[in-house]
Amino acid sequence: MKTIVWTKYGSPDLLQLKEVEKPVPKDNEVLIKIHAASVNPLDWHRMRASPFLVRLGEGFFKPKDTKLGADVAGIVEAVGSSVTQFRPGDAVFGEIGAGSFAEYAAAREDRLALKPANISFEEAAASPVVGFTALQGMRDTGHIQSGQKVLVNGAAGGVGTFAVQLAKSYGTEVTGVCSTRNLDMVRSIGADHVIDYTREDFTRNGQRYDLIYDAIGNRSVFAYRRALKPGGKCVIAGFTTMPRLFEHMILGSLITKIGSKQVGMMGVANPNQPDLLIIKELLESGKVKSVIDRCYPLSETPEAIRYLEKGHARGKVIITVGQ
Ligand SMILES: NC(=O)c1ccc[n+]([C@@H]2O[C@H](COP(=O)([O-])OP(=O)(O)OC[C@H]3O[C@@H](n4cnc5c(N)ncnc54)[C@H](OP(=O)(O)O)[C@@H]3O)[C@@H](O)[C@H]2O)c1
Repeated sequence: MKTIVWTKYGSPDLLQLKEVEKPVPKDNEVLIKIHAASVNPLDWHRMRASPFLVRLGEGFFKPKDTKLGADVAGIVEAVGSSVTQFRPGDAVFGEIGAGSFAEYAAAREDRLALKPANISFEEAAASPVVGFTALQGMRDTGHIQSGQKVLVNGAAGGVGTFAVQLAKSYGTEVTGVCSTRNLDMVRSIGADHVIDYTREDFTRNGQRYDLIYDAIGNRSVFAYRRALKPGGKCVIAGFTTMPRLFEHMILGSLITKIGSKQVGMMGVANPNQPDLLIIKELLESGKVKSVIDRCYPLSETPEAIRYLEKGHARGKVIITVGQ
């Protein structure tokens, strides 16, 4: 089978498409024939070892794991002896850690769910990582409640497009922040209000929010604080620079201790089957629709990553496999 292999830290030019043996599923795994995968910033952070701290998990001098790609959708081809939830022929989707930029992957059954029948493999592959990130950030860290005023910064990206729709599904009034060219798209996925960040600063326009969900993470703790109502929360999912990250972690937790407003990072989203089933339900019911910017064939994975890295994808970037 063909797979994207990653052996050195650096630019997407170092990725290679190689012929390797098909993986053999362990007892608790299923073998998936992949139809689609999606690219996430995590892929290029890992690939470039950027920030440098990535090396602590991935290997100091070179990556320990040569597989790349977390989000997947495809058809189960074989199952391990203890698998109970899936059978060959089932269409599934999920987050498998690494290895979805390939024709086949072996994945633990508890990282997968049946693909909603009403959406394509591309739409299914677009949703797990961004779905976990939006859901866990808004529900678990942000404690989102119906009737709140919610602002999503980075509303046009992978996480942001999911977050806007998720916030609407909770019955909130949503403001999406994006650039001029994406205003209509962000309105079309349900945002009640949109702010063009090239013309207006959401932290200085006099509006106050119960919950700010920031998929970019480019503002100071004081700016977030200014845009929150008393008792409001700001949940930061995105990462821009190390100084900003430390500011959000350290100053954010200090501010949270001394006042009624909370500002902080959400931490790394945790892929788990109960939340994947919630994401499945949101997609099945049409409360959330995957927004897809571009699709690239497996052989063009480096171009797909290069495009996402520019930071202006409109929704998700997809890798289509074997089609
Ligand atoms: N905590 C976690 O576990 C977790 C999980 C997944 C992702 N993340 C992080 O979340 C962030 C977003 O991920 P993603 O998948 O959504 O990335 P993405 O799809 O690459 O985000 C691109 C979007 O960012 C928008 N954008 C760029 N600059 C902006 C600005 N100054 N203000 C507002 N929007 C801006 C762009 O919109 P315009 O073209 O309109 O500018 C574009 O639509 C990344 O930093 C990622 O590392 C964290």
